[in-house]
Amino acid sequence: MGNFFPRWSNWLPLKLAIAVVFIAFGVSVGVAYYFTPKYTRVGYEPTQPVPFSHKIHAGQLGLDCRYCHSFGEASSHSNVPTNQTCFNCHGQGKGGIRATSPKLELVQKANETGKSIPWVKVHKAPDYVYFNHSAHLNRGISCVACHGRIDEMEVVRHDQPQSMGWCLDCHRNPEKNLRPLDYVTKLAFKPADLKRDEFYKSLLDKKVPAGEIAAAIGGEGAKADDLGALLALAEKTYGKEVTQTEVGTQLKKHWQIQPPENCTACHR
Ligand code: HEC
Ligand code: HEC
Ligand code: HEC
Ligand code: HEC
Ligand code: HEC
Repeated sequence: MGNFFPRWSNWLPLKLAIAVVFIAFGVSVGVAYYFTPKYTRVGYEPTQPVPFSHKIHAGQLGLDCRYCHSFGEASSHSNVPTNQTCFNCHGQGKGGIRATSPKLELVQKANETGKSIPWVKVHKAPDYVYFNHSAHLNRGISCVACHGRIDEMEVVRHDQPQSMGWCLDCHRNPEKNLRPLDYVTKLAFKPADLKRDEFYKSLLDKKVPAGEIAAAIGGEGAKADDLGALLALAEKTYGKEVTQTEVGTQLKKHWQIQPPENCTACHR
């Protein structure tokens, strides 16, 4: 008598179990990718205890982001400044800017009591997500890519979805956002602001061979031996103004930028 069930069916329960796990996993990943609050979260703008304006401080006064948000090389998260930072300018007594303004009352009080101002958090990754600011800033990703034009905001709001799909979109195509490190906190930066000769010279100065730079511009066949030839090739390929594709492609290649896409990089 033959076996009523074919042999492989012995494995059926196990296969089914594995399939179910995979499907459940796939669904939750799909849900995370497509349905996390991509649309609802953009614009989230809580009211802050002190009407602090980035538009005044980072925009008009031109204070660098790092004056108040210091990310040490090893620091994995950003931080909101202490009252002392505000007090540098708004301290009481002679020369204190607007020291008696009612809008600054809480700052003055915080300084007397030594308690910090209860700023409301705007951006918060879930606990199961690992995120590190310096890993991005030190690799040429500007605040503006993730937070928008903060220097034009009276009140900080979510400018970007901050969803998993959003992280991954950039990890797959980082060249769309890479810029020279000097411009990481210059939110208004445009690639067209760069002088093409200075940009390529900076690469040559770092001992990147001209041939490799040329290949990144025009593909394997493209050749150039010196700055002049590179500039001609770049203008032919990208036009008169420096473009984001141009800058991003070079930096990605020569800085060996490889943002992770594996699950454990962000979920450890
Ligand atoms: C004079 C100090 C100061 C400067 C300069 C400054 N910030 Fe801030 N920043 C603050 C304070 C205070 C808060 C908390 C209150 C708030 O959200 O407005 C904050 C909050 C933020 C937040 C939201 C934090 C959260 O809870 O998610 C972001 C993002 C941010 N700043 C980005 C920037 C960027 C980008 C720059 C440079 C263009 C910058 N800041 C310059 C003081 C400063
Ligand atoms: C580098 C100096 C400097 C620092 C540091 C600074 N401010 Fe200011 N702040 C100013 C100037 C200048 C103005 C504009 C004053 C005016 O409009 O005449 C201002 C305006 C303000 C106002 C509006 C005051 C009003 O009456 O309209 C608030 C509120 C304020 N700052 C809060 C803060 C807080 C909170 C911090 C710390 C996170 C801070 N500032 C850090 C220089 C500074
Ligand atoms: C690659 C995207 C990215 C870049 C670039 C980036 N941020 Fe953030 N930022 C985030 C995310 C995501 C969070 C939430 C992190 C968390 O909850 O751990 C955050 C949180 C913050 C916070 C609140 C953190 C806290 O401790 O309360 C501040 C302030 C901030 N960012 C400022 C900045 C400034 C200033 C820059 C540029 C110098 C910058 N960020 C660049 C993605 C980014
Ligand atoms: C605008 C582009 C951009 C966005 C948005 C972005 N990243 Fe990245 N990420 C990068 C780049 C570029 C690197 C650096 C890769 C390298 O060093 O080769 C990086 C590196 C990382 C790393 C590896 C470095 C480390 O600290 O271990 C992690 C983890 C990471 N990102 C997590 C995140 C998370 C989580 C988010 C979303 C909340 C996010 N990233 C959003 C561009 C981005
Ligand atoms: C570049 C960083 C990054 C990578 C790589 C990444 N994730 Fe995520 N993941 C996130 C962030 C950020 C969130 C939180 C999204 C939110 O809050 O909207 C998240 C959320 C999730 C959630 C939660 C869904 C929910 O709604 O609760 C699951 C499940 C998940 N990720 C699975 C995975 C799997 C599986 C992989 C590998 C295929 C992966 N992730 C790779 C950044 C990442």
